[in-house]
Amino acid sequence: MFRFLFASISLIFYTQGAAATGENTYKQVCAVCHQSGVAGAPKVGDKAKWAPLIKEGQAQLTAHGYVGVRGMPAKGGKADLSVADFAASLVFMVNQSGGSWQNPDAKTLERINAEIIKRENAKKK
Ligand code: HEC
Repeated sequence: MFRFLFASISLIFYTQGAAATGENTYKQVCAVCHQSGVAGAPKVGDKAKWAPLIKEGQAQLTAHGYVGVRGMPAKGGKADLSVADFAASLVFMVNQSGGSWQNPDAKTLERINAEIIKRENAKKK
């Protein structure tokens, strides 16, 4: 319960922080794995690998990546990475890999946050 509350409150702050550019965050945080495909990470530019992920939709894919899935560490392994910055770095990767996403607006961020909370609750069970 407290963890849930804490997560919700921090999400509110996260989404209000100034966003670094997606490309910078990608280079600083994600490229170490996603440039060359470490441990089966979908490589940037590999359109065949990204197509089914892009199809999941921005809110879902962003939330799943942010919470972490199998070899993909939560927040790309950077504990203080905001949802907005994570989302922007993912937009950069997607747009290098056959997609055309835009940095999430307030409404999309809300949907991403809702998915994150859902996912985190599911993980605890
Ligand atoms: C330590 C290595 C590593 C780092 C750093 C990393 N990733 Fe990943 N990522 C992975 C791996 C491995 C997978 C494949 C997971 C699987 O499907 O088994 C993955 C998968 C993903 C997926 C697909 C998730 C899904 O639902 O299948 C997304 C989206 C993603 N990463 C985004 C990012 C973003 C954005 C960053 C930077 C903020 C990042 N990753 C940093 C290793 C990494």
